Amino acid sequence: MSIDIAVVGSCNVDLVVNVDSIPTVGQTVLGGDLRRIPGGKGANQAVAASRLGKSVAMIGRIGDDENGKFLQANLEENDVNTEFLFTTPLIPTGVALISVQHDGDNAIVVSPGANSELSPEDVVNVPPIAEAQVLLLQAEIPIETVLAAAQTAEGTVIWNPAPAPNESVPLELLDLVDVLVPNQQELELLIGNGSADNLESIFAMAKTFPCSSTIVTLGAQGAVVVASNEAVHIPAPEISPVDTTAAGDSFCAALAGSLVEGKDLVEATQWAVQVGAATTLIAGAQPSLPTSSEVLQRLEDR
Ligand code: RIB
Repeated sequence: MSIDIAVVGSCNVDLVVNVDSIPTVGQTVLGGDLRRIPGGKGANQAVAASRLGKSVAMIGRIGDDENGKFLQANLEENDVNTEFLFTTPLIPTGVALISVQHDGDNAIVVSPGANSELSPEDVVNVPPIAEAQVLLLQAEIPIETVLAAAQTAEGTVIWNPAPAPNESVPLELLDLVDVLVPNQQELELLIGNGSADNLESIFAMAKTFPCSSTIVTLGAQGAVVVASNEAVHIPAPEISPVDTTAAGDSFCAALAGSLVEGKDLVEATQWAVQVGAATTLIAGAQPSLPTSSEVLQRLEDR
């Protein structure tokens, strides 16, 4: 089977607790029951793209443990190709500790575990990366591996720099990226100064990257597409989110899927904004990822 989208990235088990408000430094709060949910920005994007009808391969690393088996089985149940999902002995599968507060906003701490072991050698000779029409990358694996995957790709490269890397990003990577997809905070961290709080500053900041286009996600405000010499704002539908976890992931997956279908960046972003919004109406990372018909249904029912 030919692969539309290859995802090189993280697989995490999400341990999620709902709270009234995310605790501040030094504060202890009581929350709801603990839930164990398949997550990880890479795996979320792979499952989202598959549910949206694309053929998808996931390239990553899990530990040789119960969590790893749980994540692999979940990817396979979602028709994601796991031929290049490697198992790492003696290192645990990645885990994310997530608090979700009353308005759907969250705070996440990731313990990367096996995700940190995904090496450049793991990705250089992987046929789906070279063959896919779109390669989707994030930043929960080593940056050298992100670069090696981008160098292997022959199709469109989308990089969602989430979470924003602590180290400086190799210029070589930005040169290979066709579409950069940060949120406002990630854009500010990548640039290192300035605030991305209006269309003009987002445009100016995005234009400093060598990539041909940048799409900045703005949460409830939608997204801005910066390509050629203009910035186009795509508003989001008005909704009351239940849980914003994985909204950025389904956005990236929908964007990738639309590019596979030959849509232009603005059309692709219009769809991605709808998919991201629909994702926030259901709790949990992967349980919330919609099929195409569920996107429209959820937004009509809201
Ligand atoms: O983007 C949401 C994801 O971020 C969660 O599923 C969690 O695993 C972290 O990687």
